[in-house]
Amino acid sequence: MELWGRISAAPHGLLALSLLLLLLAIPNATAVAEPASALVDHGGEMLKGNLDLSILFYGQLGRIQKNALRAFLKSLNQNARGGAEPSVSSWWHMVSSYVHNDKDIAVRVVQQYVDPNYTHGKVMTRDFIKILVEKALVGFPHAVPVIVAARDVTVEGLCIGRCSEHGDIDGKPYVILGNPETECPGACAWPFHKADYGPAGPVLKPPSGDIGADAMVISLASGLASVVSNPFRTGLFQLGHKSSVIEATTACPGMFGTGATPGYTGKVSVDIRTGGAYNAVGFKGKKFLLPALWNPKTESCWTVM
Ligand SMILES: *[C@@H]1O[C@H](CO)[C@@H](O)[C@H](O)[C@H]1NC(C)=O
Repeated sequence: MELWGRISAAPHGLLALSLLLLLLAIPNATAVAEPASALVDHGGEMLKGNLDLSILFYGQLGRIQKNALRAFLKSLNQNARGGAEPSVSSWWHMVSSYVHNDKDIAVRVVQQYVDPNYTHGKVMTRDFIKILVEKALVGFPHAVPVIVAARDVTVEGLCIGRCSEHGDIDGKPYVILGNPETECPGACAWPFHKADYGPAGPVLKPPSGDIGADAMVISLASGLASVVSNPFRTGLFQLGHKSSVIEATTACPGMFGTGATPGYTGKVSVDIRTGGAYNAVGFKGKKFLLPALWNPKTESCWTVM
């Protein structure tokens, strides 16, 4: 089975340069709302088939956090039942449109692995990530590992300008999510926590009630969009300042609804029962706040709401 393939052929000189970047940043949740210049399809490989995920929960993660991530994934292919509110699947439809004209990418969780014992310690280094990626691929060599850190795990390179990461090890793309609940909420949990830098906009209540859970949903959403559109750093992206890489969601930082400005998420809904802010509804009516995506057709940022 060939999972990754060239979607369109457009050789580009930036390709060689991009290969120098070993790890890619997903600098989400900064309180900025300025769309980047247009992303360019560099013609490299993108996801061709379905997206199978192997999730590795590393450390002691609470039920709310694990369930929020699982519910988000279950919602991606779940068509809205005629509700008035935007659905998570409409967000995924935009991601799918990067690689397919009309078909949505089918997402499956093929394996979930929990390591509550911090087998490799509490500081995730590059070597350590390689071990976890290999572990997640056992039995499912075509899956994309999603490594989720517990709140007391420090992920090397995260929290400083970026909150999650995607990359590839031995040709296998993976996503790793930092947990900002106690590590760096001011850097990685906006809009659910006051931002350390940037304009002080209103802080919103997380839809699940758990700051870490909903910040990680934003990170996972960003990570999946990147894995689909730019798995090997040769697909849809643009180089930014200091060789940072701007991708489908980082092109539109801090935007969650129409009218977003720096420090202001844009228009979102509020759950009258819980006070949680959201912009999309998914599996069993669960609510999520999902990041803006780059829309290549209009060359502008797009939000579900
Ligand atoms: C974690 O440690 C406990 C107690 O030592 C053990 O029973 C359990 O099997 C371990 N779990 C994993 C997944 O390693």
